[in-house]
Amino acid sequence: MELLCPICGELLTKTDGALACPAGHSFDIARQGYVHLLPVQQKHSRNPGDTREQVLSRRSFLEGGYYAPICDALCQVGKSYCGPILDVGCGEGYYSSRLAAATGAELTGLDISKEAVRCAAARYKGHQWLCASAAHLPVKDKSVGILTSLFALTVPEEFARVLRPEGIFIQVLAAEDHLLGLKNIIYPELHHKEKFSAPELPGFVLEKTVPVRFTFTVEGQQVQNLLSMTPHVYRIGKAGAEALRNTPTLTDTASCVLNVYQPIHKE
Ligand SMILES: C[S@@+](CC[C@H](N)C(=O)[O-])C[C@H]1O[C@@H](n2cnc3c(N)ncnc32)[C@H](O)[C@@H]1O
Ligand SMILES: [Zn+2]
Repeated sequence: MELLCPICGELLTKTDGALACPAGHSFDIARQGYVHLLPVQQKHSRNPGDTREQVLSRRSFLEGGYYAPICDALCQVGKSYCGPILDVGCGEGYYSSRLAAATGAELTGLDISKEAVRCAAARYKGHQWLCASAAHLPVKDKSVGILTSLFALTVPEEFARVLRPEGIFIQVLAAEDHLLGLKNIIYPELHHKEKFSAPELPGFVLEKTVPVRFTFTVEGQQVQNLLSMTPHVYRIGKAGAEALRNTPTLTDTASCVLNVYQPIHKE
C-alpha cells in the first residue's frame, strides 16, 4: 500500500532500511519490521494506545480461540471483496492476519500502540505494520479495498478518503448484551445504555449487518485476560476487581455486530 509522510503528506518511498519523502523526512523500519509514522504532534500521551500487558493478554486470549466465531464471520464477509486490506486499531494482528490469509489480499495493519504493532510484526511476517493514528492515516487517497476496524475507532472522513470507490468498510462493534456475565460480576448494578448497533456514518451507506453471538467459557488467567481486552479494565473498581479475582471460571456470551459500509460515490 502506498504510504504518505505523516509530516508533509508527500509519498513515501523505501530507501535503505527506511521510508523517506522528497522533503527528506525519514522513518526507520524497525528490526521487527514495523514503521513508526506517528509524529509527536499526533500523540496525546507518551505511549498512546494499549500497553504491552494489554497486548499480551489479548494475544493469549485470542489465540485461545475463544473469539474464533468473530474471526470466521469477518473472513466469510471479507472474502466477497477485494483488497488491499487496511486494519485500523489492528492490535496484535490476530484478526487481520487471518483475513489476509482467507482473502489472499495484501495487508497493512495500523495501531497507535507501538507495543501492539511490534507484537503483530514479530508474529505475522510478510505484511506491513504501522504505528500511526486512525485520525491521520498515512495512506494515499482511494488506495484501500477493505478497511476494517474491530472493537476500535471509526473516523468516517479519513476512512472515506482512503477507500477506493468500490471498497468497503467492515466495522465490528460490541452489542448491548456483550459480556453481560463479566459485567454482572464486576459492577454492583448495570445501567441500561441505548447503543446503536449500526451507527450512521457520514459519507457511507450501510450495506448489511451480520450479528455474531455465541457462548464461551474461560478459566484462570484467561478471565483476567478477557477483562484486559475490554474498556472495563479502565472503569473497574476495587470491589469489582476483587470479585473477578475470585472467579475461577466464567461462562459468558459474546455478542457483536459486523457492519459493512460502502463509501458514497462523489464525482
Ligand atoms: C480494543 S483494541 C482492539 C484491537 C484489535 N482490533 C482486536 O480486536 O483484537 C483497540 C485498539 O485500538 C488502538 N487505538 C486506540 N486509539 C487509536 C488511534 N487513535 N489510532 C489507532 N489505533 C488506536 C489501541 O492501541 C488498541 O490496540
Ligand atoms: Zn515529508
